[in-house]
Amino acid sequence: MSQPTRTITITGAGGQIGYALLFRIASGAVYGPDTPVSLRLLEIPAGIRAAEGAALELLDGAFSLLRSVEVTDDADTAFSRADAALLVGARPRTAGMERADLLEANAAIFGPQGAAIARSASPDVRVVVVGNPANTNALIASGHADGLPLDRFSAMTRLDHNRARGILAAHLDAPVADVDGVTIWGNHSATQYPDITRATVKGRAATELLDDAWIRESFIPRVARRGAEIIEVRGSSSVGSAASAAIDHLHDWVDGTAEGTWTSAAIPSDGSYGVPEGLVSSFPVRSVGGAWRIVEGFEIDAFSRDRIDASVAELMDEREQARALGLI
Ligand code: NAI
Repeated sequence: MSQPTRTITITGAGGQIGYALLFRIASGAVYGPDTPVSLRLLEIPAGIRAAEGAALELLDGAFSLLRSVEVTDDADTAFSRADAALLVGARPRTAGMERADLLEANAAIFGPQGAAIARSASPDVRVVVVGNPANTNALIASGHADGLPLDRFSAMTRLDHNRARGILAAHLDAPVADVDGVTIWGNHSATQYPDITRATVKGRAATELLDDAWIRESFIPRVARRGAEIIEVRGSSSVGSAASAAIDHLHDWVDGTAEGTWTSAAIPSDGSYGVPEGLVSSFPVRSVGGAWRIVEGFEIDAFSRDRIDASVAELMDEREQARALGLI
């Protein structure tokens, strides 16, 4: 039976990740094969033509689930009654830019977008921030979204989660579907902590199959710096894998995580695991009844504690800078 049409807004839709997202969403990858979708593509004037071109191609795809595509540079039009928003468009770091400059440039994007989402989107909108610095951009967007609960906002660390599973599977020559129980903690940056202390491979503890030195000296830094590795090999940043992870994130948020397992997402902290309340930090999460829930009760060993604290310290520092600049 056909379901009501869902509206998804994609910002930066004329960019690389936007292009990789659109066709999969139009094929039903987020809401499934029975739910028609309407797409709203938000761009800045410089990106409008690229988004319009993508919209023409969407038409040419003759996707049976695709009800409409609208391209706009007006945020309220783009977010009007949106059920989901993938905030991909962001200001990249350019030569000579300090971290404070980057935060400020992105706050000028994510603050107004958060406000427009609160004014115009559906009250139960699901917002996934992909554009970097993703965690703090989500914090800034939620800080401007008057009247919308914090739990409508998240930032994407699913790419890091998927990378961790993929790298573990490749190292052990196992199907990736057999790898479970991975967690990404903290910031979507090189300080993140890809934690495999509870990971299993076909039900066996990963830590029994791997030596500590490989985990600490090879696996953890490789996952944390995978973005740089992709740029070095490919000559351009992650696109297909990033779009795929954004779809995984939103799909699981809508549809729920599989029984008995969890994934990773950056969501506003409720103080769990010593992460200060309100910081948008990556946790082990389950999606239950359409809401993210932090998986509680994990014992954190000393090594993990240090790693989580280091990444959380970076998030606190970004929040402090954003406050000092009056961005939140
Ligand atoms: P891109 O440069 O190809 O596309 C970005 C698009 O955003 C451009 O078309 C630009 O015109 C548009 N844009 C800029 N400001 C905008 C605004 N205010 N409103 C709407 N659109 C706007 O970049 P790409 O490769 O698509 O990456 C997008 C972002 O995703 C970057 O910030 C990148 O660092 C981030 N990223 C995040 C990952 C994660 O795991 N969280 C993984 C990979 C990339």
